Amino acid sequence: MEIKPDEITKILRERIEGLETESADLSEVGTVLSIGDGIARVHGLDNCMALEMLQLPHDVVGLALNLEQDNVGAVLFGNWEEIVEGDTVKRTGKLLEIPTGDALLGRLVDPLGRPLDDKGDVNTDQTRPAEFKAPGVVKRQPVEEPMQTGLKAIDSMIPIGRGQRELIIGDRQTGKSAIALDTIINNRDQDLICIYVAIGQRMSTVIQFMEVLEQHGAMDNTIIVAAPADEAAPIKFMAPYAGCAMGEHFLYDGKHALCIYDDLSKHAAAYREMSLLLRRPPGREAYPGDVFYLHSRLLERAVKLNDELGGGSLTALPVIETQAGDVSAYIPTNVISITDGQIFLESDLFHSGVRPAINVGISVSRVGGNAQTKAMKRVAGKLRLDLSQYRELEAFAQFGSELDPETQRSLARGERLVAALNQRERSPLSVADQVVSIFAGTGGYLDRIKAERVQSFLEDLITRMRAEHADLLARINDTGQLSDDDEEALGDAIKDMVDDFGPDFDEQGNPLEAGESDRVRSEQERARPARAAEEEAEEEEPEREEVPA
Ligand SMILES: Nc1ncnc2c1ncn2[C@@H]1O[C@H](COP(=O)(O)OP(=O)(O)O)[C@@H](O)[C@H]1O
Ligand SMILES: [Mg+2]
Repeated sequence: MEIKPDEITKILRERIEGLETESADLSEVGTVLSIGDGIARVHGLDNCMALEMLQLPHDVVGLALNLEQDNVGAVLFGNWEEIVEGDTVKRTGKLLEIPTGDALLGRLVDPLGRPLDDKGDVNTDQTRPAEFKAPGVVKRQPVEEPMQTGLKAIDSMIPIGRGQRELIIGDRQTGKSAIALDTIINNRDQDLICIYVAIGQRMSTVIQFMEVLEQHGAMDNTIIVAAPADEAAPIKFMAPYAGCAMGEHFLYDGKHALCIYDDLSKHAAAYREMSLLLRRPPGREAYPGDVFYLHSRLLERAVKLNDELGGGSLTALPVIETQAGDVSAYIPTNVISITDGQIFLESDLFHSGVRPAINVGISVSRVGGNAQTKAMKRVAGKLRLDLSQYRELEAFAQFGSELDPETQRSLARGERLVAALNQRERSPLSVADQVVSIFAGTGGYLDRIKAERVQSFLEDLITRMRAEHADLLARINDTGQLSDDDEEALGDAIKDMVDDFGPDFDEQGNPLEAGESDRVRSEQERARPARAAEEEAEEEEPEREEVPA
Protein backbone atom coordinates (compact mmCIF):
# COMPACT_ATOMS: atom_id res chain seq x y z
CA MET A 1 0.00 0.00 0.00
CA GLU A 2 1.18 3.42 -0.85
CA ILE A 3 1.61 5.82 2.03
CA LYS A 4 0.64 9.37 1.41
CA PRO A 5 2.33 11.65 3.94
CA ASP A 6 -0.17 14.43 3.23
CA GLU A 7 -3.09 12.27 4.21
CA ILE A 8 -1.49 11.09 7.42
CA THR A 9 -0.62 14.64 8.43
CA LYS A 10 -4.21 15.65 7.78
CA ILE A 11 -5.61 12.85 9.91
CA LEU A 12 -3.23 13.61 12.73
CA ARG A 13 -4.07 17.29 12.62
CA GLU A 14 -7.79 16.52 12.83
CA ARG A 15 -7.23 14.27 15.81
CA ILE A 16 -5.19 16.85 17.69
CA GLU A 17 -7.66 19.61 16.98
CA GLY A 18 -10.48 17.53 18.39
CA LEU A 19 -8.62 16.89 21.63
CA GLU A 20 -10.32 18.26 24.71
CA THR A 21 -7.53 19.02 27.09
CA GLU A 22 -9.80 19.39 30.11
CA SER A 23 -11.32 15.97 29.94
CA ALA A 24 -8.12 14.16 29.03
CA ASP A 25 -6.28 12.51 31.88
CA LEU A 26 -2.87 14.06 31.63
CA SER A 27 -1.46 13.14 35.02
CA GLU A 28 2.24 12.67 35.18
CA VAL A 29 3.34 9.16 36.01
CA GLY A 30 6.68 7.99 37.32
CA THR A 31 8.21 4.74 38.50
CA VAL A 32 9.68 3.63 41.81
CA LEU A 33 13.46 3.39 41.54
CA SER A 34 14.14 2.11 45.03
CA ILE A 35 12.19 1.54 48.21
CA GLY A 36 13.11 0.97 51.85
CA ASP A 37 12.21 2.11 55.37
CA GLY A 38 9.05 3.79 54.13
CA ILE A 39 11.00 6.00 51.72
CA ALA A 40 10.73 5.72 47.95
CA ARG A 41 12.87 7.27 45.23
CA VAL A 42 10.74 7.98 42.21
CA HIS A 43 11.87 8.71 38.65
CA GLY A 44 9.90 10.63 36.06
CA LEU A 45 7.94 13.18 38.09
CA ASP A 46 9.59 16.22 36.58
CA ASN A 47 6.94 18.76 37.59
CA CYS A 48 6.25 17.40 41.06
CA MET A 49 5.74 20.02 43.82
CA ALA A 50 7.27 19.90 47.28
CA LEU A 51 4.79 18.31 49.72
CA GLU A 52 2.61 17.08 46.85
CA MET A 53 0.59 13.93 47.46
CA LEU A 54 1.45 10.99 45.26
CA GLN A 55 -0.68 7.98 44.45
CA LEU A 56 0.82 4.50 44.59
CA PRO A 57 -0.66 1.01 44.25
CA HIS A 58 -2.25 -0.72 47.29
CA ASP A 59 -3.76 2.58 48.46
CA VAL A 60 -0.39 3.83 49.57
CA VAL A 61 -0.07 7.61 49.72
CA GLY A 62 3.27 9.28 49.17
CA LEU A 63 4.43 12.72 50.17
CA ALA A 64 7.12 14.30 48.00
CA LEU A 65 9.80 15.79 50.23
CA ASN A 66 13.08 15.77 48.34
CA LEU A 67 13.01 17.23 44.85
CA GLU A 68 16.29 16.30 43.22
CA GLN A 69 17.60 16.66 39.70
CA ASP A 70 16.76 13.19 38.44
CA ASN A 71 14.45 11.79 41.12
CA VAL A 72 11.97 12.63 43.87
CA GLY A 73 12.34 11.35 47.43
CA ALA A 74 8.95 10.57 48.95
CA VAL A 75 7.82 9.25 52.31
CA LEU A 76 5.02 6.69 52.16
CA PHE A 77 1.95 6.32 54.36
CA GLY A 78 0.10 3.03 54.59
CA ASN A 79 1.15 -0.48 53.52
CA TRP A 80 4.42 0.56 51.93
CA GLU A 81 5.84 -2.98 52.36
CA GLU A 82 3.77 -4.02 49.34
CA ILE A 83 5.39 -1.51 47.03
CA VAL A 84 8.10 -2.91 44.75
CA GLU A 85 10.61 -1.39 42.38
CA GLY A 86 9.03 -0.44 39.07
CA ASP A 87 5.58 0.33 40.53
CA THR A 88 3.92 3.33 38.98
CA VAL A 89 3.55 6.56 40.91
CA LYS A 90 0.94 9.11 39.93
CA ARG A 91 1.00 12.81 40.70
CA THR A 92 -2.22 14.15 42.19
CA GLY A 93 -1.45 17.84 41.74
CA LYS A 94 -2.65 18.42 45.31
CA LEU A 95 -0.63 19.35 48.34
CA LEU A 96 -1.17 17.21 51.42
CA GLU A 97 -4.62 17.83 52.83
CA ILE A 98 -6.09 16.77 56.15
CA PRO A 99 -9.78 16.04 56.78
CA THR A 100 -11.20 18.69 59.10
CA GLY A 101 -14.55 19.76 60.44
CA ASP A 102 -16.91 19.42 63.36
CA ALA A 103 -17.29 15.69 62.68
CA LEU A 104 -13.85 15.16 64.20
CA LEU A 105 -14.91 16.45 67.63
CA GLY A 106 -14.91 13.72 70.25
CA ARG A 107 -12.78 11.47 68.07
CA LEU A 108 -9.41 9.78 68.26
CA VAL A 109 -7.82 9.86 64.80
CA ASP A 110 -4.47 9.33 63.13
CA PRO A 111 -2.68 12.23 61.38
CA LEU A 112 -4.49 11.50 58.11
CA GLY A 113 -7.86 11.79 59.86
CA ARG A 114 -8.62 8.07 59.88
CA PRO A 115 -10.42 6.89 63.01
CA LEU A 116 -8.48 4.98 65.67
CA ASP A 117 -11.45 4.65 68.04
CA ASP A 118 -14.48 2.42 67.62
CA LYS A 119 -16.97 5.16 66.81
CA GLY A 120 -17.17 4.45 63.08
CA ASP A 121 -16.20 6.56 60.09
CA VAL A 122 -15.41 10.24 60.30
CA ASN A 123 -18.06 11.79 58.09
CA THR A 124 -16.58 14.95 56.71
CA ASP A 125 -15.73 16.15 53.23
CA GLN A 126 -13.93 19.27 54.37
CA THR A 127 -10.16 19.38 54.18
CA ARG A 128 -7.41 21.85 54.90
CA PRO A 129 -3.78 21.87 53.77
CA ALA A 130 -1.43 20.29 56.28
CA GLU A 131 1.09 23.06 55.67
CA PHE A 132 -0.42 26.51 55.73
CA LYS A 133 1.34 29.83 55.74
CA ALA A 134 0.95 31.60 59.06
CA PRO A 135 -1.02 34.88 58.94
CA GLY A 136 1.13 38.00 58.81
CA VAL A 137 1.18 40.71 61.43
CA VAL A 138 -1.54 42.78 59.74
CA LYS A 139 -4.02 39.96 60.10
CA ARG A 140 -3.36 39.63 63.81
CA GLN A 141 -4.37 41.49 66.94
CA PRO A 142 -2.87 41.53 70.41
CA VAL A 143 -3.55 38.60 72.73
CA GLU A 144 -6.02 39.80 75.33
CA GLU A 145 -8.39 37.01 76.30
CA PRO A 146 -7.30 34.56 78.97
CA MET A 147 -6.85 30.87 78.23
CA GLN A 148 -7.42 29.51 81.74
CA THR A 149 -5.60 26.31 82.62
CA GLY A 150 -7.47 25.97 85.92
CA LEU A 151 -4.13 25.55 87.68
CA LYS A 152 -3.47 28.14 90.38
CA ALA A 153 0.28 28.22 89.86
CA ILE A 154 -0.06 28.92 86.14
CA ASP A 155 -3.06 31.24 85.96
CA SER A 156 -1.72 33.40 88.79
CA MET A 157 1.90 33.76 87.74
CA ILE A 158 2.34 32.55 84.16
CA PRO A 159 -0.97 33.53 82.56
CA ILE A 160 -1.61 32.32 79.04
CA GLY A 161 -3.69 34.24 76.51
CA ARG A 162 -5.73 32.94 73.60
CA GLY A 163 -3.46 33.00 70.55
CA GLN A 164 -0.27 32.61 72.56
CA ARG A 165 2.43 29.95 72.27
CA GLU A 166 3.56 28.72 75.67
CA LEU A 167 6.09 25.93 76.03
CA ILE A 168 5.75 23.25 78.71
CA ILE A 169 9.25 21.93 79.33
CA GLY A 170 10.73 19.46 81.80
CA ASP A 171 12.18 16.00 82.31
CA ARG A 172 10.05 12.91 81.97
CA GLN A 173 7.54 12.25 84.75
CA THR A 174 7.34 15.83 85.94
CA GLY A 175 3.66 16.35 85.16
CA LYS A 176 3.83 17.91 81.67
CA SER A 177 1.00 15.85 80.21
CA ALA A 178 -0.96 16.33 83.43
CA ILE A 179 -0.99 20.10 82.81
CA ALA A 180 -2.30 19.48 79.29
CA LEU A 181 -5.00 17.19 80.60
CA ASP A 182 -6.11 19.62 83.31
CA THR A 183 -6.24 22.45 80.79
CA ILE A 184 -8.53 20.47 78.50
CA ILE A 185 -10.78 19.49 81.42
CA ASN A 186 -10.93 23.08 82.62
CA ASN A 187 -12.05 24.28 79.19
CA ARG A 188 -14.83 21.78 78.62
CA ASP A 189 -17.43 24.57 78.80
CA GLN A 190 -15.37 27.63 77.86
CA ASP A 191 -15.97 27.70 74.08
CA LEU A 192 -12.50 26.42 73.42
CA ILE A 193 -11.91 23.49 71.08
CA CYS A 194 -8.96 21.43 72.26
CA ILE A 195 -6.76 19.35 69.98
CA TYR A 196 -4.35 17.04 71.73
CA VAL A 197 -1.61 15.71 69.48
CA ALA A 198 0.12 12.68 71.01
CA ILE A 199 3.45 12.02 69.29
CA GLY A 200 5.47 8.90 70.02
CA GLN A 201 3.51 7.91 73.13
CA ARG A 202 2.23 4.44 73.89
CA MET A 203 -1.23 3.87 72.44
CA SER A 204 -2.44 2.63 75.84
CA THR A 205 -1.43 5.97 77.39
CA VAL A 206 -3.37 7.85 74.72
CA ILE A 207 -6.47 5.72 75.24
CA GLN A 208 -6.23 6.27 78.99
CA PHE A 209 -5.96 10.00 78.34
CA MET A 210 -9.13 9.86 76.27
CA GLU A 211 -10.97 7.87 78.95
CA VAL A 212 -10.13 10.47 81.59
CA LEU A 213 -11.44 13.22 79.31
CA GLU A 214 -14.62 11.24 78.73
CA GLN A 215 -15.11 10.76 82.47
CA HIS A 216 -14.85 14.51 82.96
CA GLY A 217 -17.18 15.28 80.08
CA ALA A 218 -14.41 17.07 78.21
CA MET A 219 -14.21 14.89 75.12
CA ASP A 220 -17.11 16.54 73.26
CA ASN A 221 -15.04 19.56 72.29
CA THR A 222 -11.77 17.68 71.94
CA ILE A 223 -9.96 15.95 69.09
CA ILE A 224 -7.08 13.59 69.82
CA VAL A 225 -4.56 13.04 67.04
CA ALA A 226 -2.33 10.09 67.81
CA ALA A 227 0.90 8.99 66.17
CA PRO A 228 1.95 6.32 68.65
CA ALA A 229 5.50 5.12 69.24
CA ASP A 230 5.21 2.13 66.91
CA GLU A 231 4.18 4.25 63.91
CA ALA A 232 6.59 5.05 61.08
CA ALA A 233 8.52 8.30 61.34
CA PRO A 234 6.58 10.11 58.56
CA ILE A 235 3.30 9.64 60.45
CA LYS A 236 4.83 11.13 63.60
CA PHE A 237 6.27 13.93 61.51
CA MET A 238 2.82 14.74 60.08
CA ALA A 239 0.93 14.62 63.39
CA PRO A 240 1.39 18.22 64.66
CA TYR A 241 0.66 19.71 61.24
CA ALA A 242 -2.49 17.64 61.01
CA GLY A 243 -3.57 18.75 64.49
CA CYS A 244 -2.85 22.34 63.58
CA ALA A 245 -4.89 22.06 60.35
CA MET A 246 -7.82 20.66 62.34
CA GLY A 247 -7.51 23.61 64.72
CA GLU A 248 -7.35 26.10 61.87
CA HIS A 249 -10.75 24.90 60.69
CA PHE A 250 -12.19 26.43 63.87
CA LEU A 251 -9.79 29.38 63.91
CA TYR A 252 -10.86 30.64 60.49
CA ASP A 253 -14.46 30.07 61.48
CA GLY A 254 -14.05 32.75 64.17
CA LYS A 255 -13.85 30.26 67.01
CA HIS A 256 -11.19 29.56 69.61
CA ALA A 257 -8.97 26.50 69.50
CA LEU A 258 -6.07 25.12 71.50
CA CYS A 259 -3.44 22.76 70.11
CA ILE A 260 -1.25 20.77 72.48
CA TYR A 261 1.76 19.06 70.88
CA ASP A 262 2.91 16.34 73.29
CA ASP A 263 5.76 16.24 72.58
CA LEU A 264 7.93 18.06 70.04
CA SER A 265 11.16 16.33 71.15
CA LYS A 266 9.82 13.09 69.75
CA HIS A 267 8.60 14.99 66.69
CA ALA A 268 12.13 16.30 66.08
CA ALA A 269 13.53 12.80 66.53
CA ALA A 270 11.06 11.43 63.96
CA TYR A 271 12.05 14.18 61.54
CA ARG A 272 15.72 13.36 62.10
CA GLU A 273 15.06 9.71 61.34
CA MET A 274 13.16 10.59 58.21
CA SER A 275 15.76 13.07 57.02
CA LEU A 276 18.64 10.68 57.50
CA LEU A 277 16.76 8.06 55.48
CA LEU A 278 16.22 10.68 52.77
CA ARG A 279 19.99 11.22 52.93
CA ARG A 280 19.78 14.84 53.94
CA PRO A 281 23.01 16.03 55.56
CA PRO A 282 22.95 15.84 59.37
CA GLY A 283 23.84 18.88 61.46
CA ARG A 284 24.04 19.52 65.18
CA GLU A 285 23.05 16.45 67.23
CA ALA A 286 22.47 14.81 63.81
CA TYR A 287 19.30 16.83 63.26
CA PRO A 288 18.93 18.23 59.75
CA GLY A 289 19.67 21.93 59.36
CA ASP A 290 16.04 22.97 58.97
CA VAL A 291 14.74 21.53 62.24
CA PHE A 292 14.34 25.05 63.61
CA TYR A 293 12.16 25.95 60.63
CA LEU A 294 10.22 22.71 61.19
CA HIS A 295 9.02 23.94 64.58
CA SER A 296 8.83 27.65 63.87
CA ARG A 297 6.52 27.26 60.90
CA LEU A 298 4.27 25.07 63.04
CA LEU A 299 4.14 27.36 66.08
CA GLU A 300 3.86 30.53 64.03
CA ARG A 301 0.42 29.30 62.99
CA ALA A 302 -0.82 30.05 66.52
CA VAL A 303 -2.57 33.38 66.20
CA LYS A 304 -5.22 35.78 67.40
CA LEU A 305 -6.88 37.01 64.21
CA ASN A 306 -8.16 40.57 63.85
CA ASP A 307 -11.87 41.28 63.94
CA GLU A 308 -12.29 41.58 60.15
CA LEU A 309 -11.10 37.99 59.87
CA GLY A 310 -13.50 36.82 62.55
CA GLY A 311 -11.36 37.30 65.66
CA GLY A 312 -10.72 33.58 66.11
CA SER A 313 -7.69 32.30 67.95
CA LEU A 314 -5.39 29.31 67.97
CA THR A 315 -3.32 28.80 71.11
CA ALA A 316 -0.36 26.44 71.04
CA LEU A 317 1.04 24.55 74.01
CA PRO A 318 4.07 22.65 72.72
CA VAL A 319 5.69 20.18 75.14
CA ILE A 320 9.42 19.45 75.21
CA GLU A 321 11.03 16.69 77.22
CA THR A 322 14.51 17.51 78.51
CA GLN A 323 17.25 15.10 79.61
CA ALA A 324 18.37 15.69 83.21
CA GLY A 325 17.01 19.24 83.16
CA ASP A 326 19.29 20.30 80.31
CA VAL A 327 17.50 23.20 78.65
CA SER A 328 20.57 24.14 76.61
CA ALA A 329 20.29 21.17 74.23
CA TYR A 330 19.52 21.91 70.59
CA ILE A 331 15.78 21.27 70.38
CA PRO A 332 14.87 22.85 73.78
CA THR A 333 16.75 26.09 72.98
CA ASN A 334 15.10 26.23 69.56
CA VAL A 335 11.59 25.90 70.88
CA ILE A 336 12.24 28.23 73.83
CA SER A 337 13.23 30.92 71.35
CA ILE A 338 10.18 30.33 69.15
CA THR A 339 7.55 30.47 71.91
CA ASP A 340 6.22 33.39 73.96
CA GLY A 341 7.34 31.91 77.25
CA GLN A 342 7.85 28.63 79.04
CA ILE A 343 6.54 26.69 82.00
CA PHE A 344 9.54 24.93 83.43
CA LEU A 345 8.92 21.77 85.46
CA GLU A 346 11.58 20.24 87.71
CA SER A 347 12.01 16.72 89.01
CA ASP A 348 13.45 17.93 92.34
CA LEU A 349 10.42 20.08 93.02
CA PHE A 350 8.10 17.28 91.94
CA HIS A 351 9.70 14.86 94.39
CA SER A 352 9.74 17.40 97.20
CA GLY A 353 5.96 17.56 96.88
CA VAL A 354 5.53 20.77 94.86
CA ARG A 355 2.86 19.80 92.32
CA PRO A 356 2.56 21.11 89.68
CA ALA A 357 6.36 21.19 89.92
CA ILE A 358 6.81 24.63 88.38
CA ASN A 359 10.09 26.49 88.85
CA VAL A 360 8.67 29.99 89.23
CA GLY A 361 12.03 31.71 88.88
CA ILE A 362 12.65 30.69 85.27
CA SER A 363 9.08 30.26 84.03
CA VAL A 364 7.65 33.22 82.15
CA SER A 365 4.76 34.27 79.98
CA ARG A 366 5.79 37.13 77.73
CA VAL A 367 2.37 38.14 76.44
CA GLY A 368 -0.25 36.58 78.70
CA GLY A 369 -0.05 39.30 81.39
CA ASN A 370 -2.45 41.42 79.33
CA ALA A 371 -4.85 38.53 79.22
CA GLN A 372 -4.91 37.88 82.95
CA THR A 373 -8.21 38.62 84.69
CA LYS A 374 -8.16 41.82 86.74
CA ALA A 375 -9.24 39.98 89.86
CA MET A 376 -6.32 37.60 89.64
CA LYS A 377 -3.89 40.39 88.88
CA ARG A 378 -5.08 42.20 91.96
CA VAL A 379 -4.54 39.34 94.41
CA ALA A 380 -1.51 37.73 92.77
CA GLY A 381 0.49 40.88 92.07
CA LYS A 382 3.20 40.21 94.62
CA LEU A 383 3.05 36.43 94.53
CA ARG A 384 5.94 35.85 92.17
CA LEU A 385 8.22 38.22 94.09
CA ASP A 386 7.32 36.68 97.45
CA LEU A 387 8.02 33.21 96.12
CA SER A 388 11.38 34.00 94.59
CA GLN A 389 12.34 35.79 97.81
CA TYR A 390 11.33 32.68 99.70
CA ARG A 391 13.43 30.40 97.48
CA GLU A 392 16.44 32.65 98.02
CA LEU A 393 15.98 32.82 101.79
CA GLU A 394 15.35 29.10 101.94
CA ALA A 395 18.75 28.36 100.46
CA PHE A 396 20.28 30.83 102.89
CA ALA A 397 18.43 29.42 105.89
CA GLN A 398 19.94 26.01 105.25
CA PHE A 399 23.21 27.25 106.73
CA GLY A 400 21.41 27.16 110.05
CA SER A 401 22.43 30.62 111.14
CA GLU A 402 20.26 32.75 113.43
CA LEU A 403 17.45 34.34 111.51
CA ASP A 404 15.89 37.66 112.37
CA PRO A 405 12.12 37.78 112.81
CA GLU A 406 11.62 39.54 109.48
CA THR A 407 13.35 36.70 107.61
CA GLN A 408 11.41 34.14 109.57
CA ARG A 409 8.18 35.82 108.61
CA SER A 410 9.16 35.76 104.92
CA LEU A 411 10.05 32.10 105.22
CA ALA A 412 6.78 31.26 106.92
CA ARG A 413 4.81 33.19 104.31
CA GLY A 414 6.68 31.52 101.46
CA GLU A 415 6.08 28.08 102.88
CA ARG A 416 2.36 28.75 102.97
CA LEU A 417 2.25 30.24 99.48
CA VAL A 418 3.96 27.13 98.11
CA ALA A 419 1.41 24.99 99.95
CA ALA A 420 -1.43 27.15 98.63
CA LEU A 421 -0.30 26.75 95.03
CA ASN A 422 -0.17 22.96 95.24
CA GLN A 423 -3.00 21.34 93.37
CA ARG A 424 -4.06 17.80 92.76
CA GLU A 425 -4.23 16.71 89.15
CA ARG A 426 -7.60 16.55 87.39
CA SER A 427 -9.15 19.15 89.66
CA PRO A 428 -8.91 22.45 87.80
CA LEU A 429 -10.40 25.48 89.57
CA SER A 430 -12.52 28.34 88.31
CA VAL A 431 -11.15 31.88 88.35
CA ALA A 432 -13.08 32.73 91.52
CA ASP A 433 -11.90 29.63 93.39
CA GLN A 434 -8.34 30.46 92.43
CA VAL A 435 -8.71 34.08 93.51
CA VAL A 436 -10.00 32.96 96.91
CA SER A 437 -7.09 30.55 97.44
CA ILE A 438 -4.42 32.99 96.31
CA PHE A 439 -5.89 35.84 98.33
CA ALA A 440 -5.85 33.70 101.46
CA GLY A 441 -2.10 33.32 100.92
CA THR A 442 -1.05 36.77 99.73
CA GLY A 443 -3.42 38.47 102.18
CA GLY A 444 -1.58 36.78 105.05
CA TYR A 445 -4.57 34.81 106.33
CA LEU A 446 -2.73 31.52 105.96
CA ASP A 447 0.08 32.71 108.23
CA ARG A 448 -1.96 31.53 111.20
CA ILE A 449 -2.21 28.01 109.88
CA LYS A 450 0.53 25.41 109.71
CA ALA A 451 1.79 24.75 106.19
CA GLU A 452 0.75 21.09 106.35
CA ARG A 453 -2.85 22.07 107.01
CA VAL A 454 -3.07 24.72 104.28
CA GLN A 455 -4.33 22.31 101.64
CA SER A 456 -7.27 21.06 103.69
CA PHE A 457 -8.00 24.58 104.92
CA LEU A 458 -8.31 25.84 101.34
CA GLU A 459 -10.57 22.95 100.40
CA ASP A 460 -12.86 23.73 103.33
CA LEU A 461 -12.70 27.42 102.51
CA ILE A 462 -13.80 26.91 98.93
CA THR A 463 -16.61 24.58 99.98
CA ARG A 464 -17.87 27.18 102.42
CA MET A 465 -17.50 30.07 99.95
CA ARG A 466 -19.57 28.13 97.43
CA ALA A 467 -22.26 27.54 100.03
CA GLU A 468 -22.36 30.94 101.71
CA HIS A 469 -20.94 33.43 99.24
CA ALA A 470 -22.00 32.04 95.88
CA ASP A 471 -22.94 35.54 94.68
CA LEU A 472 -19.44 36.85 95.35
CA LEU A 473 -17.85 33.94 93.47
CA ALA A 474 -20.26 34.39 90.58
CA ARG A 475 -19.39 38.11 90.41
CA ILE A 476 -15.68 37.32 90.15
CA ASN A 477 -16.28 34.64 87.52
CA ASP A 478 -18.63 36.78 85.43
CA THR A 479 -16.82 40.12 85.52
CA GLY A 480 -13.27 38.96 86.16
CA GLN A 481 -13.04 41.87 88.62
CA LEU A 482 -12.61 42.08 92.37
CA SER A 483 -14.08 45.33 93.69
CA ASP A 484 -12.91 46.96 96.94
CA ASP A 485 -16.10 45.88 98.67
CA ASP A 486 -15.78 42.34 97.45
CA GLU A 487 -12.17 42.19 98.55
CA GLU A 488 -13.18 43.28 102.02
CA ALA A 489 -16.02 40.78 102.15
CA LEU A 490 -13.67 38.05 100.96
CA GLY A 491 -11.13 38.98 103.64
CA ASP A 492 -13.79 38.81 106.36
CA ALA A 493 -15.04 35.46 105.10
CA ILE A 494 -11.53 34.01 105.13
CA LYS A 495 -10.88 35.39 108.61
CA ASP A 496 -14.05 33.73 109.91
CA MET A 497 -13.02 30.51 108.29
CA VAL A 498 -9.59 30.66 109.97
CA ASP A 499 -11.29 31.03 113.37
CA ASP A 500 -13.65 28.15 112.72
CA PHE A 501 -10.93 25.94 111.26
CA GLY A 502 -8.81 26.38 114.40
CA PRO A 503 -5.71 28.49 113.87
CA ASP A 504 -2.31 27.16 114.94
CA PHE A 505 -0.87 30.60 115.65
CA ASP A 506 -2.25 33.80 117.11
CA GLU A 507 -2.21 37.11 115.29
CA GLN A 508 1.40 37.78 116.34
CA GLY A 509 2.56 34.42 115.10
CA ASN A 510 2.90 32.75 118.51
CA PRO A 511 1.79 29.14 118.65
CA LEU A 512 -1.53 28.62 120.34
CA GLU A 513 -0.70 25.17 121.66
CA ALA A 514 2.70 24.02 122.81
CA GLY A 515 4.87 22.19 120.33
CA GLU A 516 2.97 23.34 117.27
CA SER A 517 5.86 24.66 115.28
CA ASP A 518 9.58 24.15 115.69
CA ARG A 519 10.46 27.38 114.06
CA VAL A 520 8.24 29.55 116.22
CA ARG A 521 9.26 27.74 119.37
CA SER A 522 12.94 28.38 118.77
CA GLU A 523 12.08 32.01 118.24
CA GLN A 524 10.39 32.04 121.64
CA GLU A 525 13.38 30.47 123.30
CA ARG A 526 15.58 33.13 121.86
CA ALA A 527 13.20 35.77 123.12
CA ARG A 528 13.74 34.64 126.72
CA PRO A 529 16.18 36.80 128.71
CA ALA A 530 19.74 35.92 127.85
CA ARG A 531 20.47 35.51 131.59
CA ALA A 532 18.09 32.59 131.85
CA ALA A 533 19.82 30.85 129.01
CA GLU A 534 23.21 31.34 130.66
CA GLU A 535 21.95 29.88 133.93
CA GLU A 536 20.68 26.90 132.07
CA ALA A 537 24.08 26.44 130.50
CA GLU A 538 25.80 26.59 133.92
CA GLU A 539 23.44 23.99 135.29
CA GLU A 540 24.28 21.66 132.47
CA GLU A 541 28.00 21.95 132.92
CA PRO A 542 28.46 19.77 136.08
CA GLU A 543 26.63 16.96 134.36
CA ARG A 544 29.12 17.04 131.57
CA GLU A 545 32.01 16.73 134.06
CA GLU A 546 30.62 13.48 135.29
CA VAL A 547 31.19 11.89 131.91
CA PRO A 548 34.29 9.68 132.23
CA ALA A 549 37.20 10.98 130.21
N1 LIG B 1 -0.43 17.85 90.32
C1 LIG B 1 -0.14 16.55 90.49
N2 LIG B 1 -0.37 15.96 91.66
C2 LIG B 1 -0.08 14.66 91.84
N3 LIG B 1 0.44 13.85 90.90
C3 LIG B 1 0.70 14.37 89.69
C4 LIG B 1 0.43 15.74 89.43
N4 LIG B 1 0.79 15.99 88.15
C5 LIG B 1 1.26 14.81 87.66
N5 LIG B 1 1.21 13.84 88.58
C6 LIG B 1 1.63 12.43 88.38
O1 LIG B 1 2.96 12.41 87.95
C7 LIG B 1 3.17 11.38 87.00
C8 LIG B 1 3.82 11.95 85.76
O2 LIG B 1 2.96 12.84 85.12
P1 LIG B 1 2.95 13.04 83.56
O3 LIG B 1 2.04 14.17 83.29
O4 LIG B 1 2.69 11.77 82.85
O5 LIG B 1 4.46 13.45 83.32
P2 LIG B 1 5.22 13.76 81.95
O6 LIG B 1 4.20 13.99 80.91
O7 LIG B 1 6.04 14.97 82.29
O8 LIG B 1 6.09 12.58 81.71
C9 LIG B 1 1.81 10.78 86.71
O9 LIG B 1 1.73 9.55 87.38
C10 LIG B 1 0.83 11.76 87.28
O10 LIG B 1 -0.29 11.11 87.79
MG1 LIG C 1 3.89 13.00 79.10
